[in-house]
Amino acid sequence: MNALIDYTIDRLSPHTGAEVRGIDLREPVDTATRKRLNDAFIEHSVLVVRDQKLSPAELLAAVRLFGEVFPQHNTKFALPECPLIHYISNQDKYPDGTRYIPGGGYHTDHSNAERPPKATVLHAVQLPDQGGDNQYFNLQAAYDDLSPKMKARIEGARAIHVYQSRYSERKLLALPDTAKVPDSVAHPLVRTHPENGRKGLYLNPIRTEGIVGMDDAEGLPLLDELLTHAVQRQYRYRHRWRPGDLVMWDNRCLLHKATADYDMSQMRYLYRVMLQGDVPA
Ligand SMILES: [Fe+2]
Repeated sequence: MNALIDYTIDRLSPHTGAEVRGIDLREPVDTATRKRLNDAFIEHSVLVVRDQKLSPAELLAAVRLFGEVFPQHNTKFALPECPLIHYISNQDKYPDGTRYIPGGGYHTDHSNAERPPKATVLHAVQLPDQGGDNQYFNLQAAYDDLSPKMKARIEGARAIHVYQSRYSERKLLALPDTAKVPDSVAHPLVRTHPENGRKGLYLNPIRTEGIVGMDDAEGLPLLDELLTHAVQRQYRYRHRWRPGDLVMWDNRCLLHKATADYDMSQMRYLYRVMLQGDVPA
């Protein structure tokens, strides 16, 4: 049994990320520990649990400490032995034979769902010798720093999210015919976190096609301006992967991207699972 005294939680940057050491998620977790981990997740937005070695079934049990599992959209990546868990790999190809790097541009996961996943969890199975960091950008801190004029301008605005924005520079792999995703959904451009109450931008350049009630000539530059602001260095926590890392992040208040800066002949392979969220408000 994991007990409170056995582990530590330490901040990884001034605004985003905390590292948990001394816990084994294959073991049962008591109520106090579960609460402390959930509280740390809400406070720090990225939780890095070091030194895990979880099978898919053990990973699924571990993430249920934090919520209900969200069915991911592209079942092409589902593990046959545990379909709620997908894999992230640098070994897949587009139909034209070029390499597909999942998560290669700024985004938040599955925002085209009516109730997008509150969290995504990755567990490192195989990592390149160096590189392949995940970068996270804190959209609550970015919102706080907007001018009063910009805050007033975007208050109440809703952005249109689709599976694949026609404006996205990064192309996703096509969904299988059986996938069930909405044609489009509108989510607030500024959302209030249901658990910590903070306001943050809700952006996703891969899936966003515009702002409701604004023509593209106005809406697209506005989205670009907000994105340029949000991905500044001061809002970033850059996660350098170590073997055994389990990383869980809060999709409700972060943008993230994977960094394709490593030797692609080396395998980068992680398990991915998501947790159900609320309708953004
Ligand atoms: Fe992602």
